[in-house]
Amino acid sequence: METVMVNASSAYPVHIGGGLLDRCGGLLAAVTSSRRCAVVTDSTVGPLYAGRVRASLEEAGFTPLLYSFPAGEQNKNLTIYGSILEFFAQNRLTRSDCIVALGGGVVGDMAGFAAATYQRGVDYIQMPTTFLAASDSSVGGKTAVDLAAGKNLAGAFWQPKMVLCDTDTFRTLPADTFADGAAETVKHALIKDRDFLGFLMTADVHQSIAQVVRRNVEIKAAVVGEDEFERGARKLLNFGHTLGHAIEKCSGYGVTHGHAVGIGMALACRAAERLGYSPAGTLDAVLAANGRFGLPVQCPYGADELYNAATGDKKRDGGSIDVVVLEEIGRAKTVRLDMDGLRAFTEAAL
Ligand code: NAD
Ligand code: GLY
Repeated sequence: METVMVNASSAYPVHIGGGLLDRCGGLLAAVTSSRRCAVVTDSTVGPLYAGRVRASLEEAGFTPLLYSFPAGEQNKNLTIYGSILEFFAQNRLTRSDCIVALGGGVVGDMAGFAAATYQRGVDYIQMPTTFLAASDSSVGGKTAVDLAAGKNLAGAFWQPKMVLCDTDTFRTLPADTFADGAAETVKHALIKDRDFLGFLMTADVHQSIAQVVRRNVEIKAAVVGEDEFERGARKLLNFGHTLGHAIEKCSGYGVTHGHAVGIGMALACRAAERLGYSPAGTLDAVLAANGRFGLPVQCPYGADELYNAATGDKKRDGGSIDVVVLEEIGRAKTVRLDMDGLRAFTEAAL
């Protein structure tokens, strides 16, 4: 097991390695004095892994409750969020109990938001079971649900007490879902670490999975340690997300987050090169990385649809929005655009 520390307003460990599901009880006991917990999972992950998690928790002296909801981004909504809170209340969970988020980013974001808001905040841990959740969403304390108006529009910053990433769980991921994690991994490399991109383009990522997750977590932990509440440096983690979120929304969440970010990074680079924010070559790097990991690059939507969806994004600040562009491979910056600028950026992206 390898451990990376996240030094946000609270410090917590991210443990990465094989076989950790079967050790989760002992590891959880080390970060909480509670012995009651609610495991929140989804209808795909629960049947695969909740039994082992429950057994390990019981062995460590916990009394675990289990709540499962139907898998999928379309269920990351206020209705399911409300039913999670009702489950906690019906089972008389108290502020000294804790929540375990067992699943991908949808479970982590929604269980995390429930933990942030139930009785004004209870402890939770993240147990990511997708490459994306392990490499990005389980770390950094962003929790949220989607609203009809857009992605992640209701949420909170609420840091977990621990992240426990059992990389063996990725063995049951469909190839497309693994690729979603590759998109956020490529994002981290493009904005922060040129050598990491080189590694990703040549190494067998499946064989080096713990090392790859670890580098992702190191990059994200450094950014979150500097700017937990996204006032500056953390905005760079949104590379590819302004138009990526718009694609997700336009598709009714039929295009997954990772795939949308993959397309969104290509669009952002095309626009940035055409508008003179990025040097030639950044688009080619994204196209090559997306191709290597089976991610799409074509946007199925036109400029009007994308622009209308993007103007509802929460990264908008009054009459302006920050988009992230690459200054070079491994270095990024934000550019503040007014709404006319966003329209021009969107048109240049296609
Ligand atoms: P997901 O949670 O929907 O998981 C994808 C699919 O894989 C689901 O059907 C799930 O049931 C299934 N699955 C999960 N683990 C599995 C396993 N081990 N074996 C087989 N199937 C498994 O999607 P995701 O890609 O993990 O996460 C995407 C979400 O994360 C989006 O909602 C996105 O907005 C959010 N996100 C949040 C942050 C953050 O900082 N909070 C960062 C990036 C993304
Ligand atoms: N995934 C973007 C962030 O955590 O800030």
